[in-house]
Amino acid sequence: MKLAVVGGGGREHAIIKKIKESKRVEAIYALPGNGGIAEDAICVNIGAKEVDKIVEFAVKNKIDYVIVAPDDPLVMGLVDMLEEEGIPCFGPDKAAAIIEGSKAFSKDLMKKYNIPTADYAVFTEINEALSYLESCKIPVVVKADGLALGKGVIIAETKEQAIDAVKMMMTEKKFGDSGNKVVIEEFLTGPEVSVLSFTDGNVVIPMVSSMDHKRALDGDKGPNTGGMGTIAPNPFYTKEIAEDCMEKIFIPTIEAMKSEGRTFKGCLYFGLMITDDGVKVIEYNARFGDPETQVVLPLLKGDLLEIMEATTNGTLKDIDFTFEDKYACCVVVASGGYPVEYKKGYGVSLPEKKLGIFVAGTKLIDGKQVTCGGRVLGVTEIGDTLEEAIEKSYETVKKVNFTDLFYRTDIGRRGMK
Ligand code: AMP
Ligand code: GLY
Repeated sequence: MKLAVVGGGGREHAIIKKIKESKRVEAIYALPGNGGIAEDAICVNIGAKEVDKIVEFAVKNKIDYVIVAPDDPLVMGLVDMLEEEGIPCFGPDKAAAIIEGSKAFSKDLMKKYNIPTADYAVFTEINEALSYLESCKIPVVVKADGLALGKGVIIAETKEQAIDAVKMMMTEKKFGDSGNKVVIEEFLTGPEVSVLSFTDGNVVIPMVSSMDHKRALDGDKGPNTGGMGTIAPNPFYTKEIAEDCMEKIFIPTIEAMKSEGRTFKGCLYFGLMITDDGVKVIEYNARFGDPETQVVLPLLKGDLLEIMEATTNGTLKDIDFTFEDKYACCVVVASGGYPVEYKKGYGVSLPEKKLGIFVAGTKLIDGKQVTCGGRVLGVTEIGDTLEEAIEKSYETVKKVNFTDLFYRTDIGRRGMK
């Protein structure tokens, strides 16, 4: 089979490395891929949001199956466009991708179907949003409705910050049309868990749980990022909690989407918080998480291509797969200054053995990998214990090098307590 993978980060590299294990794969094209992915796939210079060009490429090159990994092309309807040309895909269609594309939609869905989540209100008029803030408890969470590169969530510690956040989204249009609507939400506390799941719209099979580290610096300080590291499984996510989530969150969500005429197929990501008042949904994503994928897929025992095709065909209940009874840790190595301001163009040196090194932000110049993004690498190792996985990852991190690199030194530490 000829596959195409849309996207070009560490997540896509992890997907490509795993899917290469499948015997049926003849060729993998990455659109656009990156300097590291180029070692495992044929990179094609078409961006993930250039949906017309992607369709044209897939038709012309007789691609058998397309894996759409990032949120933007999913929300833009790339899966619908490819299916119209008779090309099957991994990922939800536009109608279902709205579960990530609109926070107002997902909050209203949860309310309608009694899926536990933070209390909230949705506003399209700035004056109404501002007067609602008058009576809100602080801290309060302000969210842009649409996609905002993971930056559309502001936790306001004071009323002034909340007012500024609303103005920034609704008047200054910092996130463009994504801020035409805002969700104002109750602030919750507790450990966060990411649960990625495979679903064909009928059954939902959770993958091993994981823990992201969103803040840039040790001790969960500094600005929010796309994610600075992950561990799997998440030690806070017990078997009892998992069973509870299956009953109260995972199945109800799949059923709710079906009832709304928006059957979800692909990877549905549940961002959860374990509060004193039970587990609540913080967010849904219509795709694999990044860097969660970089710890989840290395633990998968099964044929990823077969599983993905089963989500497309509605035959997921017939597929067998499990996850290794081990731990994985991924440490993200970033460019100094990320996520605020950082330089690009530094040569990257990597160890000989690159099995668990997922490349997020490099490009090839004269055959050499040079940095071209904020998050440059994800370094994943597996161990029999969490401690061993963490230790091995940091050992491997020492073997990578580029100017000005930085990483958090406490990935997974919270999980060891
Ligand atoms: P999101 O983009 O929705 O994942 O939000 C980014 C991060 O903001 C989450 O991972 C949480 O850490 C935090 N967050 C979002 N909503 C809430 C909430 N209602 N209460 C507390 N923290 C939140
Ligand atoms: N790591 C969080 C996300 O992929 O949205």
